[in-house]
Amino acid sequence: MFYPDEIVEEVRTRVDIVDIVSGYVKLQKKGSNYFGLCPFHNEKSPSFSVSPGKQMYYCFGCGAGGNAITFLMEYENYSFPEALEILAGKAGVTLPKEEMSKEAKAQADLKATLLAINKLAANYFYYQLKHPQGTLGYEYLKGRGLSDDTIRRFGLGFANKTGDDLYRYLRDKGYGDHILKETGLVTIEERGSHDKFWNRVMFPIMDVNNRVIGFGGRVMGDGMPKYLNSPETRLFDKSRNLYGLNYARSSKEHYMLICEGYMDVIAMHQAGFANAVASLGTAFTIQHASLIKRYTDQVILTYDSDGAGIKAALRAIPILKEAGVSAKVLNMEPYKDPDEFIKNLGADAFRDRIRGAKNSFLFEIDVLKKEFDLEDPEQKTRFFNQVAGKLLEFGEALERDNYIQAVSREHFINYEDLKRLVNTMGGRLGTGAGAGQRQKISSYQDRKKEKEDGPRKSQRLLLTWLIEEPGLFEKIKGIITPDDFKEELYHQVAVMVFEGHQKGRVDPAGILDHFIDDQEQYKTVASLFHARLTESLTGQERNKAFTETVYKVKKNSLDEASRRAADIGQLQEIIRAQSELKSLHISID
Ligand code: GTP
Ligand code: MN
Repeated sequence: MFYPDEIVEEVRTRVDIVDIVSGYVKLQKKGSNYFGLCPFHNEKSPSFSVSPGKQMYYCFGCGAGGNAITFLMEYENYSFPEALEILAGKAGVTLPKEEMSKEAKAQADLKATLLAINKLAANYFYYQLKHPQGTLGYEYLKGRGLSDDTIRRFGLGFANKTGDDLYRYLRDKGYGDHILKETGLVTIEERGSHDKFWNRVMFPIMDVNNRVIGFGGRVMGDGMPKYLNSPETRLFDKSRNLYGLNYARSSKEHYMLICEGYMDVIAMHQAGFANAVASLGTAFTIQHASLIKRYTDQVILTYDSDGAGIKAALRAIPILKEAGVSAKVLNMEPYKDPDEFIKNLGADAFRDRIRGAKNSFLFEIDVLKKEFDLEDPEQKTRFFNQVAGKLLEFGEALERDNYIQAVSREHFINYEDLKRLVNTMGGRLGTGAGAGQRQKISSYQDRKKEKEDGPRKSQRLLLTWLIEEPGLFEKIKGIITPDDFKEELYHQVAVMVFEGHQKGRVDPAGILDHFIDDQEQYKTVASLFHARLTESLTGQERNKAFTETVYKVKKNSLDEASRRAADIGQLQEIIRAQSELKSLHISID
């Protein structure tokens, strides 16, 4: 949706940045400005200022700054229109949906229909996988070490050998050839129509909002092609989507892992690396890089260890750099890809490799070095010259020097000699060392900090605990009910989670479906299910954290009840509960 400037202005002038920011940051007035702890970097004393006069925020610590719209974009990872829509909602400004041109409207409807069909197809494939007709696919995925949880989380499915069952299913649902053709799921021909995917396990490809925009299918056995992807459609633009980003975007890590394939992403997520994404069979593009930059400015490349993988890494590095994302490269040896590595050496070893990942520049030098026979003086000289040339790309003297040091250390080249070579080469080229001025990397991107007001946070945490560890329901029996979740959305989720538990199974995907029509709620709820608890806590710390969370949720609920109490009797009851709560201690292990 494109909004004209006047509308943007109107929304911005109708909201007060102090209100918006206070929703996330505790602010205190000092003179004409407000101050608080910066949500975009870690700090102990407040250097984050909000100016009501300017309607801007600025952090003296990290340099983050902007207006109400950019604040939401930065903080919530919203796109511009998303942020604008939130603010418009708060300001009571109706955004001009109707002003869409007829074609634009038709396009939007078409997209919505295609999304609906994709969702049906994904459900169909999933259903197949879970039923006798899908045994082959199910056994295959199990054989590759995927758990039922993982299969569900990624919505994996199966397209059986029947060549037109999906087509018939979608026709039965009322969709005509004309629209089905646009989905890329079927081929419509005069001689008859058939499914594009058959005899494959299916990987639905989701966008960042968890909407199915396409599919990948891996053949059973050795057929060709091994992987078949949806063609580009109105929904699916391969160069703008990354597989797994819908989950990776809410990972708490400050970097992302980029790999080649579906199975790699899934294997990494299953092993606890929920920050893995893949560019699907297409080369990494600048659009991919910009997409990543919305969430982080650091990545680790985990491409295959073969020649193609190395080439892909070498291609991706400058593209990432261009977008302001710095890259490291993980050494996968002796395995081919993350999937195989993790299967053989496990998650801990993989984590070690992540820690040891190589700076992309030094990786480039390593690869370059292989092209030369260093026993031969002439070739050796050429190698040094090329290294010096590459070092010149660093415009910043200090940075360049750091790299000169690193390269000389790693490759046993005398530091002074290398430095001299770089300098004379810089002079000779007449460009000075400032040549390859690199894009300035904004310092405040890399901070997906989560801050929200206390009660909200406790409710969210408690929900996540309960979803992750259903055993905890026992522990809160008689203390917490869904009504203690005072935040409306959390209350809705709590009702369903408690119901699910009573029936014996909490079904996150099913619960999520209730929120599909509201992107924001959907995202929030999805994040509940994907949030990770602090696994590293000791037993005692866990008890304490859990008790505290329960305490806070209940306290907030009681406090609110006491504000609403209708009579003395009720109030006394609440006060009794409040004082009982003080001695709350829950042991969960
Ligand atoms: P597995 O054998 O299932 O483990 O696959 P892999 O992920 O190890 O496969 P590979 O390294 O061969 O491919 C990595 C990624 O490239 C896949 O996930 C696909 O996205 C893509 N790819 C692989 N083969 C094909 C193909 O034949 N056609 C297309 N379009 N993409 C492919
Ligand atoms: Mn593989």
